[in-house]
Amino acid sequence: MGSRLELFFEVVIMIASLRLSMAGDPDIISDFVVPPNATVDGNLFTFTGMRVLIEAPAPTTFKVLKASLAEFPALEGQSVSYAVLQYPASTVNPPHTHPRASELLFLLRGSLEVGFVDTTNKLFTQTLQSGDVFVFPKGLVHYQYNKDSSVFALAISSFGSVSAGTVSIPTTIFNTSIFDGVLAKSFKTDSATIEKLKAGLAH
Ligand SMILES: *[C@@H]1O[C@H](CO)[C@@H](O)[C@H](O)[C@H]1NC(C)=O
Ligand SMILES: *[C@@H]1O[C@H](CO)[C@@H](O)[C@H](O)[C@H]1NC(C)=O
Repeated sequence: MGSRLELFFEVVIMIASLRLSMAGDPDIISDFVVPPNATVDGNLFTFTGMRVLIEAPAPTTFKVLKASLAEFPALEGQSVSYAVLQYPASTVNPPHTHPRASELLFLLRGSLEVGFVDTTNKLFTQTLQSGDVFVFPKGLVHYQYNKDSSVFALAISSFGSVSAGTVSIPTTIFNTSIFDGVLAKSFKTDSATIEKLKAGLAH
C-alpha cells in the first residue's frame, strides 16, 4: 500500500516538474482563438494602435506603446507580443522585470545603455547603437537608459508571451504600502530615508 502511494506522489511530482520546465503561454488546439462576437477576417489579425506613432511629435517623457493581449485580442494563444519604446534625451526605463517572458529589443534610432542582472547578481551591460538587437533573459531585472542629452531613441521589443507582465522595481518597492519598518530593515536604513524615496514616486 505504502509503496503504491509513494509511487503516486513521485509521478505527480514528476509531471509537475515537467510542466514547470515547459512553462510558457498555454498552447491552443486551434489555429487561433476568436474573441466573443468578433468577425473573422483580416481586421481581426490587424492591430492599428501603433498608427499614432507615425509622424507624431516625439514625447517628452519615456513612453511605452504595447500590442499585448489586452490591446490586441487576436494574440490569444500565439505566445508573442510587441512594445514600442520611446526615450527622449536623458530618460530612463527604470529597473524592472517581465515575469512571463524574455524580451528581444531592436534599437531603431539613437543609442541606449542597457543592462540586466542575473541570479548570481552579475551585471551585464552594453551600449547599443541603432541597428543592434539585445536580449533580456526571462524574469531578470533590467533597464535601458538614453544617456544622450540631445538625441531621441526609439526601440521595438518583442516578448515570448502575449502578456509578459511588468514589475517595476521602484514602484513595487516604494510606491505600494509595504511598511516603512520592513523597508528600512531590508535596505539597512531609517524610516526617514524610506519616506523620502516613497515621496519621490508618489505623484
Ligand atoms: C455578443 O452578442 C450578443 C447578441 O448580440 C450579446 O447579447 C452579447 O452581449 C455579446 N457578447 C459580447 C461579449 O460582446
Ligand atoms: C505611485 O502610485 C500613485 C497612486 O497609486 C500613482 O498615481 C503614481 O503614478 C505612482 N507613481 C509611479 C512612479 O508609479
